[in-house]
Amino acid sequence: MCGIIGYVGPRVARDVVLAGLRRMEYRGYDSAGVAVVSGGALHVRKKAGKIANLDTALESDPLPDTGIGIGHTRWATHGGPTDGNAHPHVSCNGRVALIHNGIIENFAQLREELQGSGITFASQTDTEAAAQLLGLEVAAGTDLAEAMRRVCRRLEGAFTLVAVDAAEPDRLVAARRNSPLVVGVGEGENFVASDVSAFIEFTRFAIELGQDQVVDVTAEAITVTDFAGAPAQTHPFEVTWDLSAAEKSGYDWFMRKEIYEQPRAVADTLLGRFNPDGSLKLDELHIPEEELRGIDKIIIVACGTAYYAGLVAKYAIEHWTRIACEVEIASEFRYRDPIITRTTLVVTLSQSGETADTLMAIRHAREQHAKVIAICNTNGATIPRESDAVIYTHAGPEIGVASTKGFLTQVAACYLLGLYLAQVRGTKFGDEIAAVMNELAATPPLIQQVLDSLDPIIALAHQFAEQRSVLFLGRHVGYPVALEGALKLKEIAYLHAEGFPAGELKHGPIALVEEGIPVFVVVPPQGRDQLHDKVVSNIQEVRARGAFTIVLAEEGDTEVEPYADVLFTLPRVSTLLQPLVATVPLQMFACELATLKGYDVDQPRNLAKSVTVE
Ligand code: G6P
Repeated sequence: MCGIIGYVGPRVARDVVLAGLRRMEYRGYDSAGVAVVSGGALHVRKKAGKIANLDTALESDPLPDTGIGIGHTRWATHGGPTDGNAHPHVSCNGRVALIHNGIIENFAQLREELQGSGITFASQTDTEAAAQLLGLEVAAGTDLAEAMRRVCRRLEGAFTLVAVDAAEPDRLVAARRNSPLVVGVGEGENFVASDVSAFIEFTRFAIELGQDQVVDVTAEAITVTDFAGAPAQTHPFEVTWDLSAAEKSGYDWFMRKEIYEQPRAVADTLLGRFNPDGSLKLDELHIPEEELRGIDKIIIVACGTAYYAGLVAKYAIEHWTRIACEVEIASEFRYRDPIITRTTLVVTLSQSGETADTLMAIRHAREQHAKVIAICNTNGATIPRESDAVIYTHAGPEIGVASTKGFLTQVAACYLLGLYLAQVRGTKFGDEIAAVMNELAATPPLIQQVLDSLDPIIALAHQFAEQRSVLFLGRHVGYPVALEGALKLKEIAYLHAEGFPAGELKHGPIALVEEGIPVFVVVPPQGRDQLHDKVVSNIQEVRARGAFTIVLAEEGDTEVEPYADVLFTLPRVSTLLQPLVATVPLQMFACELATLKGYDVDQPRNLAKSVTVE
């Protein structure tokens, strides 16, 4: 949500900034803007809508070639997505241009105070208050970095800020609190951005800024301080993936590419985390085994798709460890005063590692002295840095807003964690753990098998392209899979889609079933009590009422055949691992259907990839 980039160096800043904004489009936005410094003045162009609108504006009114610039894609919060509310915002004295990600909570009070002293505002944004404050500071002769620190000390809320001064053509300053910012370290050039994808084409060396830090950047130097001006500790890192991973490689959508990357992504998540004898080794989990043995409750907190991955994890973790495991939507968590003690383990799932709701939930958990383990895909992001330990999913960059490989790798990482806890606590024998681990290690080729057999799913998307409503049913771990299948359709195809526990259907939702409505049913493998048979009955219930049943069942399951209008066979895996294969056709159904409807699959309306506000 909101993409930020700044550049200082020998290249044409405008071009670097625009390229960076394009790479961050996936974060979600509804307006875009650029500012450069040249000839002692600021030059700003900004437009509502996609970057293409900004390109058109730049063609008719070009920006000068200079080596310093900032750019922003905005996801509207305060004030609609208009040209005027787009960033950068310029202080009314014309001194500074500023971009912002986050929410300045005390903006109304600041605005009132500034207006009282004669400042005129040109937008409805919270951001402009920060731009005006900074403009006043530098006009009064304060050094730019000190001016930024003074402004930050007055702001409440979440913010990443980047600013340039008309009088300083070689320097930009940036600050962060509760919102992401990385510095890209080049040779004779430097970058700041919301994420590394914005500058990966130019450098793979980066510095992650800590909480409440200000960075002063020229082409040759990077100076980091805290908000009080004291030198600050930073975390340099090298990005392990390259530009090709951040590009579409011939696919029409990042989402489709990411769906096809899942065998590799799951394999990478498992890589190096188990021994040849099938025992687990999670070296990165720096929590003493003794503490893990003392845990008496697990709470998983996450949002969106990651929450559904958490629901899958609950079944596995409880089954293997016999520890009670709750799963909670992060934005609800701290407001219900959850029962957390020193023996509670909070597990947080976040692809981006920047989701504000999730971040606030883990801060609350740590204040209550719980241990927090993050499962995250983004190196050095805020959530893993604020957790006691982290298991990285190693899925590579996920660009499509609707998460796919993020989900599968989160599920895989949760299995690892569950098995590890079972090993440490002795709730499963070594050979039992090894058996599950070996089966898990064998899933990537099975996911590939599903990917190789998606033609019937593509055909179904064509058949139901005009459909208004689709239902998804599952039981046990198939239930979160059904929820995820429905979420994908809502997110990218804008369809009414619902996921239900199949057994709950008769208590209400069955009233939604009408002639011809497509109903996807995830059928569990045979062999676990009566689970399979119950689902077969549920299929009959909806079919008897006219539903068109699309049944996902393991190969060789002949029992479901008579009740399936379309039968999609899944490779054989045990019940708990089935989400790794069963989710894939549902992802593809949504991707194909949204494509047929002509929607922007990678950047669905109103959504952002990285939701950095609560
Ligand atoms: C946003 C995205 C969802 C994602 C959720 C959690 O809402 O649009 O696709 O599932 O955030 O994201 P996270 O990065 O924390 O996994």
